[in-house]
Amino acid sequence: MLQAAEGAYRTITVRPEPSGFGAEITGLDLSRPLDREQLAEVKAAWAAHAVVRFPDQPLDLDQLEAFTLQIGPFGEDPFIKPMPGRPNVLELRREPDEKATNFGAGWHSDWSFQPTPPAATLLHSEVVPHVGGDTLFCDCTRAYEALSPTMRSMLAPLRAVHSAGRAYGTKGVFARETERRTMQIIVSEEADKTHTHPLVRTHPVTGRKALFISPVYTLGIEGLSPQESQAILGYLFGHMTQDAFVYRHRWRPRMLLMWDNRCTMHLAEGGYDGHLRVMHRTTVAGDVPA
Ligand code: SIN
Repeated sequence: MLQAAEGAYRTITVRPEPSGFGAEITGLDLSRPLDREQLAEVKAAWAAHAVVRFPDQPLDLDQLEAFTLQIGPFGEDPFIKPMPGRPNVLELRREPDEKATNFGAGWHSDWSFQPTPPAATLLHSEVVPHVGGDTLFCDCTRAYEALSPTMRSMLAPLRAVHSAGRAYGTKGVFARETERRTMQIIVSEEADKTHTHPLVRTHPVTGRKALFISPVYTLGIEGLSPQESQAILGYLFGHMTQDAFVYRHRWRPRMLLMWDNRCTMHLAEGGYDGHLRVMHRTTVAGDVPA
């Protein structure tokens, strides 16, 4: 990740993770509109570190929506019933007695099967379990840059086939689920549609290239047989998710996390059976991957 120069920020404090992937931002109050310079610095830190956390931000839903809209217009969230009266807010809620697999348990980049997948996802913690519940992120930019030049050239012209089907399709994981789930998932034939995107995309702000694939939403590679696709994707998924490229996010209550779906994948780890976990999530619209 890009490391901003020491003292590059005037209005906020940014503490990057040692790898530069992930950072903590303090020194601002997200419950009120940011001024122009603060907002520009938040966006710069987000571009540099891809996953940024804002501790101690007790936001209500109006404030979460208002901050999201400062980053950009809302994205479109399919297949999950939003909060009542809040078409752009999802509640990720898992009750202590729930046995269904926790939501988001496989590596993915949010809604990558859409023609214009969301640029950002914002997740605000309301109730955090005492154990488990971490969210893991992988740095798809550094993973790409660590590949050999020959592998990068081979991947350059390829397009990956994305679909929501494995999760939300009529034969998907949620359609086959037998355990009760609090979140209302909308299984649909619409989810079985496919859409292709460049396997390597260029970030519109940083200009850096990143792998844009995930085990949950990428079905294959256009023009390759299933076996060929599986061999390449399987290698890449193993490469991307090695510890060197992963940031483990540990939640505290009233924390806001904002990640960049254009250059990261994430996974909600679970491990908190018997405990309540409640999060509120919004997305920011993105552009056509190129
Ligand atoms: C998700 O948005 O995929 C879930 C993340 C989480 O609950 O930690």
